[in-house]
Amino acid sequence: MAIRPIVIFGDPVLREVSEKVEKFDTELKNLVSDLIDTLRESQGLGLAAVQIGITKRVFITDLSAVDINEKLRVFVNPEIVESSDESQSEYEEGCLSFPGIYQKIKRAAATKVKAFDLDGNEFVLEATGLAARAILHEYDHLEGELFIDHMSTMTKTMLKGRLKKLQSAS
Ligand code: NI
Repeated sequence: MAIRPIVIFGDPVLREVSEKVEKFDTELKNLVSDLIDTLRESQGLGLAAVQIGITKRVFITDLSAVDINEKLRVFVNPEIVESSDESQSEYEEGCLSFPGIYQKIKRAAATKVKAFDLDGNEFVLEATGLAARAILHEYDHLEGELFIDHMSTMTKTMLKGRLKKLQSAS
C-alpha cells in the first residue's frame, strides 16, 4: 500500500501503550500492508504499528534476509506466554526508531508467543535466537518500552549525546 514515515525517538507516541485490535477488517489489513512496505524499504528485521504512529497491538518481523528458514510473520494482539532467563543471550540490536544506534542488549534466548494472524486465527510460536529477540523487541514497543530501557546506565550515559540529537530532530 504505502511506505510510511517511521517515528523517531523523541516522539512521545513511542511511550504509549498500544490498544488491542478489536476487528480483523480491511483497516487492519491495510495497516499490516503499510508495515510490510515500510519494513522492506528500511531493511529492518521488525516493525511495530506504533512506529508508524498507529497505537494498535500489531507488529511484524521478517528475518528472511538473515535466515533462509524464516519468513515474514504478522502478530496481532500478541502475548508473551513464557520466556527464558533474560541474561541468557547478549547480541547487538538496533531499532528503526533509533537510526544509527546499535548496542548489545541482553534478552531471553527463547520465547513462546501467542498471537492472532490477519484473519483472526490464533497461533502459538516458539522462537529462539534472533527470532526470539526480534519478537521480544517488537513486543516491547506495544508496551511503550524501548531498547534503551534494556541498556545499562553506563551505556545510556555514553549514548546521551546521540539520543539528544535524535530527540531534537524529531
Ligand atoms: Ni524497535
